[in-house]
Amino acid sequence: MSYVILDVDTGIDDALAIAYAAHSPEVNILGITTTFGNATVKETTRNTLQVLDLLEADNIPVMAGADKTFMGDEHREKSTWIHGENGIGDVWLPQPQRGASQMEAHEYIISKVREYPHQVTIVTVANQTNLAAAIQQDQELPKLVREVVVMGGAVTVPGNITPYAEANIYTDPEAANYVFQSGTPITLVGLDVTMKTLLKRNCLDDWRQTNTDLSLFLADMCDFYMEAYRGNQISSEGCALHDPLTVGVLIDPSFVQAVPMHVEVETTGENRGQTVGDKNQPPSNIKVCTDIESDRFVSHFLKRVVHTVTTI
Ligand code: BDR
Ligand code: CA
Repeated sequence: MSYVILDVDTGIDDALAIAYAAHSPEVNILGITTTFGNATVKETTRNTLQVLDLLEADNIPVMAGADKTFMGDEHREKSTWIHGENGIGDVWLPQPQRGASQMEAHEYIISKVREYPHQVTIVTVANQTNLAAAIQQDQELPKLVREVVVMGGAVTVPGNITPYAEANIYTDPEAANYVFQSGTPITLVGLDVTMKTLLKRNCLDDWRQTNTDLSLFLADMCDFYMEAYRGNQISSEGCALHDPLTVGVLIDPSFVQAVPMHVEVETTGENRGQTVGDKNQPPSNIKVCTDIESDRFVSHFLKRVVHTVTTI
């Protein structure tokens, strides 16, 4: 059992990751912090609270975080073309039963890492803005965190937002580089592996047959996601499980192979947001996931995401 803070920009695949984590007995979610990205932080916070209502997880606190980049720039573009206007595939959910906690995201991260030194894993499936703010405020944090597992980057493959950059890194490259060079232990779950994890259309039929509020929501939301993948010529077979794979790697690191590398983030020019990794350049600061047992991971995810399990 590990203590986990999820940092999200909910987001279709963020919602899948939250459900997967909440249904996994190995993952003790202390709290969820939110940031801008797929939608505004106000929307990603609302979406997170709505998903937690569906999961009947009102014990998990939600802390709203960054609405500007690490350098203080306004968040300009939502990922409407992939995640819809509301961030969750334009699927309607009831207004949340509760609000976010008063504490800010980066303050929460600091307080929990200080409360449980060397025991908290931070799973970030969005930009690194909240974590960068936390480290900037408490410079000892990198040594006190157990691990940071990041969905982000594209070290050996092209990006998905520009030819060079993956979306989570692109939305705040300075924050990502600050975290990556901070000395905290990091595993990078990038497009190198997440693009090999396709959720196929027949799963939607299974979820519709299961016929719970959660399974119907996931089916409608992923229907939108798959149509976006098809319409944007990303894949006609299904949609990628980017954020859930990050939770999967936390639960069972043997789903992937990871190679220690020295990774830096480009912050200027047309390569802005590119994660440049070199396994021959010391010191290595990040374990970069380079290969995955995709079928084994997808079936683990599918067994967990809709049904609560109490045994492994
Ligand atoms: C990542 O970007 C976001 O749009 C997704 O939620 C995921 O975290 C994929 O590049
Ligand atoms: Ca995300």
